[in-house]
Amino acid sequence: MRPYILILYYSQTGGTANLAEHISRGVQAQGDFDVRLRCVPDVVTAIDETLPPVPEAGAAYCSKEDLAGCSGLALGTPTRFGNIAAPLKHFIDSTADLWMRGALEGRPASVFCSTASHHGGQESTLLSMLIPLLHHGMIYVGLPYSNAELNSTTTGGTPYGVTHVAGSSHTPQLSADEQSLAQAQGQRLAQIAAKLI
Ligand SMILES: Cc1cc2nc3c(=O)[nH]c(=O)nc-3n(C[C@H](O)[C@H](O)[C@H](O)COP(=O)(O)O)c2cc1C
Repeated sequence: MRPYILILYYSQTGGTANLAEHISRGVQAQGDFDVRLRCVPDVVTAIDETLPPVPEAGAAYCSKEDLAGCSGLALGTPTRFGNIAAPLKHFIDSTADLWMRGALEGRPASVFCSTASHHGGQESTLLSMLIPLLHHGMIYVGLPYSNAELNSTTTGGTPYGVTHVAGSSHTPQLSADEQSLAQAQGQRLAQIAAKLI
């Protein structure tokens, strides 16, 4: 089996999913890794409700084996009040056994997110995602300013990780800058993973 980069995300209206897709293209452009695109289910709060075991469309749900076996991780979420969305946090909170055996130590990880507004908490969300990754001993991969779009973007993109600004109408389509930065982030993550394995 070829080594793979895991792109794990939650997305409700498609913005984060589109970032994941472009990060995937960047990983594939680097050439050394397969890509596993995986999502997490919604959290159901009503105790008499259950969700189907597989999603109706799109990426498969992530297993802990998907996470434990990856050579690198890109983790994505929509912003929820400037923070990680509960479904993704719920999955992260299920990984204590991986943490106890240091399963992810030394692996590179990067983060991405989608927000409605420019100043609605992109950086706080990305940095919130960094915290559990550091507890897992992962190596944070940001997005350097040598990517020229970071200096000129009027849509998404931060040095902490790529972002999408969806606006109040929740438009999932990425701008050209967001697409380019997402691909650059995927490529950089794969380049660093290749050096570490
Ligand atoms: C409960 C809730 C809280 C949200 N909080 C924020 C927020 O703090 N800042 C912001 O810009 N957008 C916020 N949003 C909007 C989403 O983050 C935004 O629509 C995002 O692009 C959705 O990503 P997705 O298309 O991948 O689902 C919130 C949405 C919901 C439902």
